[in-house]
Amino acid sequence: MIRPPLGWPLPRIFAHRGGGALAPENTLAGLRLAARLGLRAVEFDVMLSADGTPWLIHDETLERTTSGCGRVGETSDAVLRVLDAGAGQHPAFAGEPLPTLESAAGVCRQLGLWVNVEIKPASGCEALTGDVVARHVRRLWAGDDLPLVSSFSETTLAAARAAVPDLPLGSVYERPPADWLTRVDALAALTLHCAASSLDDELRWAARRAGIPLLCYTVDDPHRAAALFRSGVAAVFSDRIDRLGES
Ligand code: G3P
Ligand code: MG
Repeated sequence: MIRPPLGWPLPRIFAHRGGGALAPENTLAGLRLAARLGLRAVEFDVMLSADGTPWLIHDETLERTTSGCGRVGETSDAVLRVLDAGAGQHPAFAGEPLPTLESAAGVCRQLGLWVNVEIKPASGCEALTGDVVARHVRRLWAGDDLPLVSSFSETTLAAARAAVPDLPLGSVYERPPADWLTRVDALAALTLHCAASSLDDELRWAARRAGIPLLCYTVDDPHRAAALFRSGVAAVFSDRIDRLGES
């Protein structure tokens, strides 16, 4: 099993869902805000439209975060392109579009943000989504550090691995199962992501012994983040990127 080399560009703080809680989630406005606040890395969620295009969105349905309705996977690009993904957060963000992975990649590369693409497959589309997103990532970040691509779905990660063999992968769990190391190694994943609330000493030590960086979500208290870093956690995802600066 190959572990991340020294110098692998893994920043300690990732803006969660683009710009954390300070901007509409999974939008270009969030990415730009993260960069303005000095963040070096962002995490965002990606799902396929009915046309097979990767878009930044967390839920399988449009209602919570956009002006649209219905299922993302059953909605065409033409419809997604005209949705408002900002007004629900605050009128100041009205008109903020739902971004494609392609537009987000352009902004991140321009701003020098390192990226964790979390693949959110619609149910039943796990393998297809892993395959398509991996190929897009390879193309969109050609000639640059590839993003870390993660998912809760092992089927998705396996398809991404098959499509792009050298893609850096991360396995996401809420609470890692007892056999997480076997699963991580089967995917040749480089990182293990889990809810900070599920972290215990046994997991910390097992990850350290295995040489696998541990990334925890979602951490908004700087004291908690500092304690996690002291305990060996490599990075955290945060909604309060105004409180958690790179230090
Ligand atoms: O990838 C870490 C974190 O984003 C997982 O939770 O639901 O915010 O995508 P969620
Ligand atoms: Mg996520």
